[in-house]
Amino acid sequence: MKNKPDTGEADHLPQAVRNELISLAISAKEKSYSPYSKLRVGAAVLTASGKIYSGTNIENASYGATVCAERVAIFKAISEGHREDIVGLAVVSDQAQPIPPCGMCRQVLSELPEDVRVIMAGNNGEFIEERMSKLLPYKFYL
Ligand code: THU
Repeated sequence: MKNKPDTGEADHLPQAVRNELISLAISAKEKSYSPYSKLRVGAAVLTASGKIYSGTNIENASYGATVCAERVAIFKAISEGHREDIVGLAVVSDQAQPIPPCGMCRQVLSELPEDVRVIMAGNNGEFIEERMSKLLPYKFYL
């Protein structure tokens, strides 16, 4: 992959990078428009050069028009010219436990580099970090 981040050959993003991504995802969550589910979700996408795009879930009275936080953040990054250089995504919610991206978001994530690190964080300090390819092993593709 081009512009591969220096992950120190480790299987995880550096702790400081992870904490920064999680904290920006938490800030994004404050902007959530979720009057129907009342579940606030925040996400933050990291590029190789260190740019971060955040997003939150935006619900709609026509429920199917709702967009998840992860997709808002990813679409913001892609629409600003990023995709191949995306290296990580963090997602948080109001729940104590880490929140895993929904199936539709995984399909969207699957168009990013396959070793993108997905950090799922709870607000109890617990987190899970996985490579995208592990979250959706048999992705749909054309
Ligand atoms: N939601 C997300 O933002 N990301 C996910 O991965 C799962 C679900 C949002 C969508 C909806 O606003 C609320 O959580 C309940 O499903």
